[in-house]
Amino acid sequence: MRYGSPETFGKDYCFGYMKREKILKKLEKALDKDRLRHTLGVEATAVQMAILFGEDTKAASRAALLHDCAKCMKLSEMQGLAKEEAKDPMMHDSKALLHAPAGAALAREEYKEEDEGVLSAIRWHTTGRPGMTRLEKIIYLADMIEPNRRTFPGLDELRMLCSQDLDAAMYKALNDSVSYVLSQGKTVHPDTLNTLSDYKNKYNGGAV
Ligand SMILES: [Fe+2]
Ligand SMILES: [Fe+2]
Repeated sequence: MRYGSPETFGKDYCFGYMKREKILKKLEKALDKDRLRHTLGVEATAVQMAILFGEDTKAASRAALLHDCAKCMKLSEMQGLAKEEAKDPMMHDSKALLHAPAGAALAREEYKEEDEGVLSAIRWHTTGRPGMTRLEKIIYLADMIEPNRRTFPGLDELRMLCSQDLDAAMYKALNDSVSYVLSQGKTVHPDTLNTLSDYKNKYNGGAV
């Protein structure tokens, strides 16, 4: 159990963490309808996966609720929240990438999230990173397989893997996303390539 700083305690908090209802109220203002529906889908999926794989369900719920909390902001606002990451030339103009570090900063500042594991799951949910924690993997995967997601090739198999083996699911998810991005003629962020390369080493000694 974590003990929050005294000023964070109040009717909107439980053990120092912002209560789910309070987080949802704020998200309703910050996100559009589709993003909110997606967020709730990620939460339901992440909590199920947390139960399955022995992760803290409350942390999974908060990480999922907050993973896209900055998604509907302007690019300039994201850049202001994630100043360090915005220096990365690939991240600088990409809302798709920058909303993750911006979300982690916003979760800390606005939603008073202090759990570094939760903040880190928000931070890495778009690119992944080598040596991901169990909660980071759960959020990364729940984001891809939540029930409101439009279908994509391999989704059924990925969903099945997500109920059996987190690492096998991560390997497939990373492999498929990298192939997709490359097929679109776009560049893959180095963090994602490094994460995939980690899994390649784990599963087939580095051979593609
Ligand atoms: Fe996201
Ligand atoms: Fe998302």
